[in-house]
Amino acid sequence: MNILIVGSGGRESAFAYKISQSPRLSSLYIAPGNAGTGQYGTNVNLKVTDFEGIAAFALANDVSLIVVGPEEPLVKGIHDYFLSREDIRHIAIIGPQQQGAQLEGSKDFSKEFMQRHDIPTAAYRSFDRSNLEEGLAYLETQSLPIVLKADGLAAGKGVLICETLKDAKAELKAMIADAKFGAASSVVVIEEFLKGIELSVFVLTDGESYKVLPSAKDYKRIGEGDTGLNTGGMGSVSPVPFADEAFLAKVEERIIKPTVEGLKTDNIPYKGFIFIGLMNVGGDPYVIEYNVRMGDPETESVLPRIESDLVDLLEGVAKGDLANRSYTVSPKTAATVVLVSGGYPGDYGNGKAISNIENVKESIVFHAGTKEQNGEVLTAGGRVLAVTALEDDLFSALQQATADAGRIFFQGKYFRTDIGFDLI
Ligand code: AMP
Ligand code: GLY
Repeated sequence: MNILIVGSGGRESAFAYKISQSPRLSSLYIAPGNAGTGQYGTNVNLKVTDFEGIAAFALANDVSLIVVGPEEPLVKGIHDYFLSREDIRHIAIIGPQQQGAQLEGSKDFSKEFMQRHDIPTAAYRSFDRSNLEEGLAYLETQSLPIVLKADGLAAGKGVLICETLKDAKAELKAMIADAKFGAASSVVVIEEFLKGIELSVFVLTDGESYKVLPSAKDYKRIGEGDTGLNTGGMGSVSPVPFADEAFLAKVEERIIKPTVEGLKTDNIPYKGFIFIGLMNVGGDPYVIEYNVRMGDPETESVLPRIESDLVDLLEGVAKGDLANRSYTVSPKTAATVVLVSGGYPGDYGNGKAISNIENVKESIVFHAGTKEQNGEVLTAGGRVLAVTALEDDLFSALQQATADAGRIFFQGKYFRTDIGFDLI
């Protein structure tokens, strides 16, 4: 079968790597892909939101399955678009329709969903322009720190953790009255601060049954010791030692089952990945957020651990018989270290020549923000490469990935040398 992956980051590189190993695959396409995805398939120069272009390409190239990497095309309705056209309805889309994508596209929607289905999450209330004064008064009744979340997509920047009441009030006003995050913050969720350790849990569902994929931990801050500004993610590890069988059993009973059941009860069709961002609060899991896609850089740690054919699971989602499929996971540990451009997550320059990738022998190098020009691989983004090592234990994987991250060169290269060491 011919498969198309939509997206261009490290996550999509990991999908391309894994899917290219499938015996069921005839041709693999990545739209738009990057300088690294060409080793697994054919890059197609199309924007992820160019639904018409994607549809035309898929039809012309007999694509029967499309894996949507990022949230934007899902929230904008790529799946609905394919269902709306008779001539492309037969092409399976991995990723929910617009309604299901609201789990990520609207914090208010996802909080209401969790409340309706008794899924443990932080206590909250939502406010907008009509009750801003009430929101300010509500803040006075809450303990600190307090979390303010723009309802809509805000490129990962819409969550503020406020340490003082003064700060919280000023930010609430800025978000609602001054449109700090544009239309995304016209509604703001104010929620209780949860203290604990975070974990990313991944579920694949056909809307009826589900498979729990390996979980991972993501390191979001730019600086060593998880300090400094938030980024798209500086590294990840899978599995996560504290997510033992007992903890994951709680996650499945209290969160995963009611989530999949809740979607059914609410008549929300859902075929795709659910990424559950969790906080482990004293041994009990609480949902911080849902995403309707895989995580980046978690995917780069999770997919290399799946030993069996991922396409078999994706086909199960497409056909609605996921319950009859099985998969196997390596007991090894994967560690991913992300190489970023100097200055990221602030301003950074592109177009720096990358060298020595070929000297990395023990790790997989996934391209993220790269492009090829006249035979040279150049930086083309904040997160440039993700280096993943798969080893017998966490320490060896971390050591290998960190050493290999050091072997690659480009001007201004930066990476964290402490990914995962908090777990040892
Ligand atoms: P989100 O965009 O919802 O993933 O939030 C971004 C980050 O903010 C999360 O990864 C957490 O580190 C933090 N965060 C969000 N909500 C809470 C909360 N209720 N308590 C503590 N930290 C939170
Ligand atoms: N690693 C977090 C995310 O993909 O949103």
